[in-house]
Amino acid sequence: MSSVETRLAELRKEINFHLYRYHTLDDPIISDAEYDRLINELRRLEEKHPELITPDSPTQRVGAEPLEGFEKVTHPIPMTSLGNAFDDDDMHNWLARIERLLPEDITVADLEFVVEPKIDGLAVALTYENGLLVQGATRGNGVEGENVTANVRTIKNIPLRIPTASNGPPPPARIEVRGEVYMPIADFNKFNQEQIAKGEKIYANPRNFAAGSLRQLDSKITAQRPLAFFSYAIGYVEGAAIHTQKEALDYLNGLGFSVNPDTLHTGQFVEAINFIHAWMERRDNLPYDADGAVLKINGFALQEHLGVVGNAPRWAIAYKFPAREATTKVLKIQGNVGRTGQITPYANLEPVNIGGVTVSQATLHNYDDLAKKDIRQGDTVVVKRAGDVIPQVIKPILDLRPPDSQPHQPPARCPVCHEPTAHLGDDVALFCINAACPAQLVRQIEYFVSRGAMDIEGFGIKIGDRLAGEELIKDIADIYFLTREQLLALEGFADKKVDNLLDAIEASKKQPFQRFLIGLGIRYVGSAVAGLVADAFPSIDRLIKAGQEELEAIEGVGPRIAESIVEWFSRPANQTLIEKFRRTGVTLEAAGPPVDVDKAQTLTGLTFVITGTLPTWSREEAKAFIQQHGGKVTGSVSKKTDYLVAGEKAGSKLSKAQALGVLVLDENGLRELASGG
Ligand code: IVH
Repeated sequence: MSSVETRLAELRKEINFHLYRYHTLDDPIISDAEYDRLINELRRLEEKHPELITPDSPTQRVGAEPLEGFEKVTHPIPMTSLGNAFDDDDMHNWLARIERLLPEDITVADLEFVVEPKIDGLAVALTYENGLLVQGATRGNGVEGENVTANVRTIKNIPLRIPTASNGPPPPARIEVRGEVYMPIADFNKFNQEQIAKGEKIYANPRNFAAGSLRQLDSKITAQRPLAFFSYAIGYVEGAAIHTQKEALDYLNGLGFSVNPDTLHTGQFVEAINFIHAWMERRDNLPYDADGAVLKINGFALQEHLGVVGNAPRWAIAYKFPAREATTKVLKIQGNVGRTGQITPYANLEPVNIGGVTVSQATLHNYDDLAKKDIRQGDTVVVKRAGDVIPQVIKPILDLRPPDSQPHQPPARCPVCHEPTAHLGDDVALFCINAACPAQLVRQIEYFVSRGAMDIEGFGIKIGDRLAGEELIKDIADIYFLTREQLLALEGFADKKVDNLLDAIEASKKQPFQRFLIGLGIRYVGSAVAGLVADAFPSIDRLIKAGQEELEAIEGVGPRIAESIVEWFSRPANQTLIEKFRRTGVTLEAAGPPVDVDKAQTLTGLTFVITGTLPTWSREEAKAFIQQHGGKVTGSVSKKTDYLVAGEKAGSKLSKAQALGVLVLDENGLRELASGG
């Protein structure tokens, strides 16, 4: 065998396999674009070597065999396919071919054209006798289809008797109406959404779903599927005289069929092409999938004259829109952290051209959906791109799955900050719950300026979002470096608004240290814990130096909180942030007397609780005294307490200290201890 013969055999085998997957099983394993590429290669080779065409070549037949189970129907007039054009040149070439075949008395200038959208569904033929629907058949292989009468009867916009309107024309004795059964996109999405909710299989695209729905052996299932029908041709008619495609569409419309309202009838070929381009532009806004536009010669006499070649009429051509689906490989599955902390999985793809755009990433929606579709790293997948919509991974092609592949596991840690992830409540979504995660800057700003933290009046989420978006704020400390000029330069930031905002920011610098601690958004450090921590470590410097054990020694601070604090301050990014805050003028130490380094740190490592009324000091003063000597003060007595400083009316803390064997001092005892006594 020559290398050409070998390639032809390969192509035929492969295409026939894919035709079977597509037409018989309704489950294609390659994209339309890829299929087109194979069949075009085969056609080109056969054109060059017509002596090598075999009867089993897919170019020699319209489609695959009908499924078993439906009664077969022979079409009185074969349901042909259409030739394809992929650009304007192809269209002009088509016209040039027609021109050569025109009867002598007709020139190109005499031609009339009708342009219709090419809706992506399945062709069916509906037979009406004296107005009554008697048969519905699928196209099948073009010669023989399947009897799906019971199924088409369930399609809401297919008339069971014509004319539908009382003022319509009388019904013809016999008519075969041809058209497309399809699934409106909105219905398709809704159905899939419900399937996801039920944990059931979802469908790859409206076309496959329409095909699967129409070819149900149980027509009750079909009845539950939101199928629709557009008519675009008359196979034959007895009892009415129709001479052109334009008349046919109007006639069908009059009988009560859905006919696409957006068709063009023109004598200008250029106008027809412009109309097709306009269709292409609007394709993403249509309520149905259109994969191209069909241009037809208007006159039936001329159609007849031009005839059919192979399985496609010469008098019509489909201008295909660029493919929106392609198959490619998933190189890696990764998570993207949104500003709410929600992690959305996406696929890094082997770059693939879809409709003129190179796609190398596609969304996987959420981890629930990903698990249901069972998309894995290494899988070959169907990817869809529609207009501006983010490309989506539709489904894996199981036949091409590598044998060693593993189901994808949702990340245990945030891909950005590497903090553990979690589900919040019943939400299926996975979250990074670390408020300090860089991916969550906006959320962090929102929290920092909120009423419970720094309480910066007039600084809402919108402003935070805006300033982060403008990159004027890259971390929360940047709030204090905003300038009048920067803000005034932003649209919508007038003098007064800027002044108010800067005043509010300035005022927040006086918020107590504890508020600042809250604002940092350290996990588990809300207002209660921040209060305890600020009491025990009344400055940022002391807090930074605090170890896990010292923090745990604070009454009300458990290991989980202590660990979170230590971990937060250990991260270099947070250390940098704190250094930056030192230059802002915000309050970084508690209001009490600062640690006096001149004082001997005689109480270092000791934990005190103060209770009752002391003879000369207020509790605040006693606390400051202890802290100035390096000791810590906590709120309640525990085994970790070294001394209870008790005054009058000591109460329960005294009894607890006695019960735990904690030493009890009075004010003087404390002074002695501090002076080394
Ligand atoms: S005309 C000779 N008109 O496209 C004409 N077909 O690839 C045969 N289609 O089987 C069909 N919209 O499923 C025609 N406005 C339209 C169409 C249309 C969609 C489909 C139909 C047909 C296939 C041909």
